[in-house]
Amino acid sequence: MNTLSDSNVTEEQTAQAGELNERLVSALERAGRITTPEVAAAFRVTPRHLFVPDVALAEAYKDDYQPTDRDGEGRLLSSVSAPWLVAQMLEYLRPRPGDSVLEVGSGGFNAALLHRLVGEAGSVTSIDIDPAVTERARRCLQAAGLEDSVRVLTGDGAHGVPERAPYDRIEVTVQAAAIEQAWLDQLAPDGVLVVPLRVRGLGRLVALVPDGTGHYTGGGWLPCGFVAMRGEAASSTQVHALTPGARVRVDGAPPFDPEALTKALDSAGSAYWSGVEVGASEGTRPVIDLWFATVLDTYGTLLVDPQKSALRALPGGTPLTWNTDSSSAAYVTMRPVEGQTSRYEYGVVLHGEDHALAEALVASLREWNRDHRGRPGPVLHVYSEGTDPAAMAPGRALERPGAPMVLTWPKG
Ligand SMILES: C[S@@+](CC[C@H](N)C(=O)[O-])C[C@H]1O[C@@H](n2cnc3c(N)ncnc32)[C@H](O)[C@@H]1O
Repeated sequence: MNTLSDSNVTEEQTAQAGELNERLVSALERAGRITTPEVAAAFRVTPRHLFVPDVALAEAYKDDYQPTDRDGEGRLLSSVSAPWLVAQMLEYLRPRPGDSVLEVGSGGFNAALLHRLVGEAGSVTSIDIDPAVTERARRCLQAAGLEDSVRVLTGDGAHGVPERAPYDRIEVTVQAAAIEQAWLDQLAPDGVLVVPLRVRGLGRLVALVPDGTGHYTGGGWLPCGFVAMRGEAASSTQVHALTPGARVRVDGAPPFDPEALTKALDSAGSAYWSGVEVGASEGTRPVIDLWFATVLDTYGTLLVDPQKSALRALPGGTPLTWNTDSSSAAYVTMRPVEGQTSRYEYGVVLHGEDHALAEALVASLREWNRDHRGRPGPVLHVYSEGTDPAAMAPGRALERPGAPMVLTWPKG
């Protein structure tokens, strides 16, 4: 395989890389992933192949992540993130010329883009917990002539890098289950913190800004998958097998009786329809997931393999709830609207006798439709550690270590 890490890279290959990059950037612009000229310009002058030197040229410019490290069981530990996600994170972050930026999780490519965006007057610090990753990132930055432009450090990014604080922008590029107090402490008063946050098992990108009183608010909510944080702030989702072909994903310990829940899901299901109709292109699924993650006390994501199970869960996972003794379970589903193409109605499937469980879900679907549909979604409130809970917004408190978090759904 001829890769661009070879020293005998020809002019022809460099020209080819330029063309591939242009094609990638134009596609990202057309898809609305890149929306500002600054981010487009940074991409145009940053040759991605230099940051994934072990793959063929065409592969380097594909809109996909490139794995760089896996654990003994093949689980991904590190990657150079997919261009569409890198672009969206920069659009959320909005770095300005002269800004001081901290990147948590290194790869080289994103740090190079950050350098282009903040310019010589700005500064970029990147920290990764894995020495092999930082060594690799340094090598790639050197190949791009940026070894003096980005400071790459090895350490646990959960603590930030206090020596260089405050930062105008902090970009976390690894999935976090909590907002670390260190990130809040190291953020400048008019700063922006971008984090791929795990909210009750759902991966969502959020941008947070401070209001100057130890209270930070944010939103965005782009669905995104990331490798989970390692080190002191490590935590992961749990996936439990239930009936054949069905699993449930929850954050933390299983808050249900697996045997009883399996028995419930093995019993016949009955459908309840909500009358809430949506267009397929409206993209309501991610927001519905977030809605139920907020309103339900017992919440998990039901994952079903349609080859092995007749449960009518939605592809990619569907909100699931259950009653106190796990003898009944209800999950969100959809059916096509008769006589219409690309229109669907939300509904609920109940297994077990607890009809109130399904009725509450249907009422909740109608509430979302009436009060929140077409709006930007929830607001994430983050408070400095030690804030009096009475002073926090009334909403769904996310039980985590680190800074307290509350989700609210404004009506208008
Ligand atoms: C998706 S990769 C980063 C991608 C990178 N920013 C890029 O340019 O494409 C996530 C990285 O986070 C790192 N990581 C995991 N836990 C960490 C922690 N506690 N502190 C710093 N880095 C961490 C992993 O080693 C991995 O390299």
